[in-house]
Order: sequence, then structure tokens, then C-alpha cells
Amino acid sequence: MSIPNDHPSHALFDSSYLRACRLQEVEQVPVWFQRQAGRSLPEYRNIRGTGSILDTIANPSLAAEITLQPVRRYGVDAAILFSDIVVPVNAIGFNVDVVPGIGPTVDQPFRDKTDLKRLRVLEPEVDTSYVLATVEILAEELEVPLIGFAGAPFTIASYLIEGQPSRNHARTKSLMHSEPRVWHDLMERLSDIAIASMRSQILAGASAVQLFDSWAGALSAGDYRNYVFPHSQRVFSELEDLEVPRAHFGVGTGELLSLMSEAGADVVGADWRVPIDEVRHRVGSDTAVQGNLDPSICLAEWPVVERQAREVLKAADGQPGHIFNLGHGVLPETDPAILENLVELIHTEGLQLASSGP
Ligand code: CP3
Repeated sequence: MSIPNDHPSHALFDSSYLRACRLQEVEQVPVWFQRQAGRSLPEYRNIRGTGSILDTIANPSLAAEITLQPVRRYGVDAAILFSDIVVPVNAIGFNVDVVPGIGPTVDQPFRDKTDLKRLRVLEPEVDTSYVLATVEILAEELEVPLIGFAGAPFTIASYLIEGQPSRNHARTKSLMHSEPRVWHDLMERLSDIAIASMRSQILAGASAVQLFDSWAGALSAGDYRNYVFPHSQRVFSELEDLEVPRAHFGVGTGELLSLMSEAGADVVGADWRVPIDEVRHRVGSDTAVQGNLDPSICLAEWPVVERQAREVLKAADGQPGHIFNLGHGVLPETDPAILENLVELIHTEGLQLASSGP
């Protein structure tokens, strides 16, 4: 199957973001920010209300407006759908709550094989029709590509097993090693959910997708290869026919970058721990790179941010296939004026570097 002729990604084919994903030259280095929508924006705090974020996500006109806010304010080169990685599992009845200041929590965590039956197949048109309605509104409104996304099977498994955000992912690793068959069954179900969710977002109008394996960096390369890689690889391969860029991101993944690329990603996002030239070296020359300014730096005064952002551009060396981003999400304390300056800097300096090679 391929995307229909009237899909937005045809009209946006030559946008800087999509060109960079395909490793093509661009006039300006594209930039967007993970968590660009959200609490750092006063306009978000004004309309978000106080209820659960899952209720906000279930309101398509509100979710579309929140997606558009950072695009208007910052002039970023891509929008990211306002949703959350736990939306699909919650929608099939594995109750997940998103607690402000903490993150996803589960009252009845996944404990053993009897819990597998709590993870049925996702039918996006029925279970998460509001997400598709949001994507459809955005496909009409946006002049830059919309990035859809899903949580990677490992990162979702970690939330379901731990029941709350976890520092060492001990229960998850324990299940993985002591009950490998249950583990792989769980990962297959979560992979199916990620595939169904991202396919539906693409068909509704998203021009790219990003698989968030935020906590994969907790694993050794050996465990990643045996217990996670085959599943994430299947997720990417089952999206291949749609021919839109597939990005793959995690935190603390320095030792996993080459595997995350090998899993089938067109773009690999990295945090700030590995300089972007080294990231590029690890992911290989066929894969675009995304990143990787430390979001904490954005809490400093502008001259500090400027210096560090130039370092990222310098490491990227004006080579095609770089999408500027933060190494993780925008922190809620960030002054939006800093991000406004940052977009302007990347658009002007990224251009100069691209044309001032040796
Ligand atoms: O702008 C965007 O990036 C789009 C929206 C988006 C959200 N969550 C909205 C959100 C995206 C892409 C996500 C993905 C997500 N959710 C990830 C992967 C990215 C990453 O950060 O590694 C993860 C791990 C989650 C789980 C999750 N949801 C966490 C850790 C939190 C933060 C809890 C808190 O309050 O600090 C959430 C809640 C959440 N999802 C918020 C937003 C804007 C903040 C809470 C709110 O506004 O009520």
C-alpha cells in the first residue's frame, strides 16, 4: 500500500524537514523541538485546563490547536502531533493515568502471562478515532509536515510493568530474563499496537513518524539486541510500504545508536551525550541524524545557548541529513523567547555552514 495522491506529504515533499530525512541538501537546516507543545508555552497553559491530559488529547479541535501553537510561535519546520505514547494502550482498556509532574502510572501493572489478555489488538478508527480526527484537522491547517508517533514496545512495556516511571527498570529486566516467552509475547502485542497506531496516523495525514524508545538506554547492547531489536525492527518494516520517513529516538542510547539505525530507521535521534558527528558515524551514512542540544542548556542565558547550539551545528558540519532538535523534550521551565532565538539562529547559521564548507 502507499499513501493516497492527495496526501499532504506530496505537497510538502520539498520541505526542509522531509528533504533532510531523505539526506538531501537543504537551504536551511530544519529544526523542531521534542515537546515543543506543552507547559513552557503560556498559550498552552491558558487552554489546557486542569483535567487529565488524556481528556485534552481526546478533544480534536483542542489537540489540533495545541499542536499548532509552537508552529506559529517558533516557526519550526515540523509539527508533532499533540498526543501521548500511552494513548493507544489506555484506549484498549489497560488503564493508564498520566499524573502531572510524574508521568504515566498504572494501577494494575503487568505482572505475568495472565495479563497478556489485557492487551488486545488496537483498532485505531474505533479506539482512537479522536487522534485521527486531530490529524485530519492538522493535515488541512499545516504548512509544514506533521510528525505522528508511537511509543516503542520496550518503553511502553516498561511503563506497564513498573506501573510508574522508573529509574532502573528492574521489574522490566527481571521479566525479560526470567519469562522470555511472556516478554516476547508482550512485545509482539505492543509492536502490533504501535504499527496500527502509526499506520493510521500516516493514512490520516501525518508525513513522518517517530518511534519513541525513550528508556531503551537503560539496556545493555546485548539485551537490546536480543529482547528489543527484533520487535522494533518489525515495527519499522511494517511501515516501509507507506514510504514516509521513520525516526527512532531514545535517551542515553550512545551504545545502541548503530542498532537503532539497523532496526530500519531513516532518522535516528540522539540525546546530548554523544556529539552529532559521532552519532552520524555510529548510525552510518544512509541514516539522517536528529539532535542534540541539551534541553537543560536552554534554561541558561541566550549567549550560553547560542554558543552550545553553534557547537551542534559545527559538529553536524553542514552535511545533508541533519535535523536540529533538543536531545530530549523541552523542559517546562524553558523561556519560549530562548527557543524563538534558537530557531532563528539555526535558520540563519545552518544556512551559512551549509554553503561555507572547505
Ligand atoms: O510537543 C510534543 O512533543 C507532542 C506531545 C507529546 C506528549 N507526550 C504530550 C505530553 C509527545 C510526543 C509525548 C510522548 C511521550 N510521553 C514520551 C516520549 C518522549 C519523551 O519525552 O521521551 C514519553 C516518555 C511520555 C510519557 C509522559 N507523558 C511523561 C513522562 C509525561 C510528563 C509528566 C509530567 O507532568 O512531567 C507525560 C505527560 C505529558 N505528555 C505532557 C505533555 C505536554 C505534560 C503534562 C501536561 O501538560 O499535563
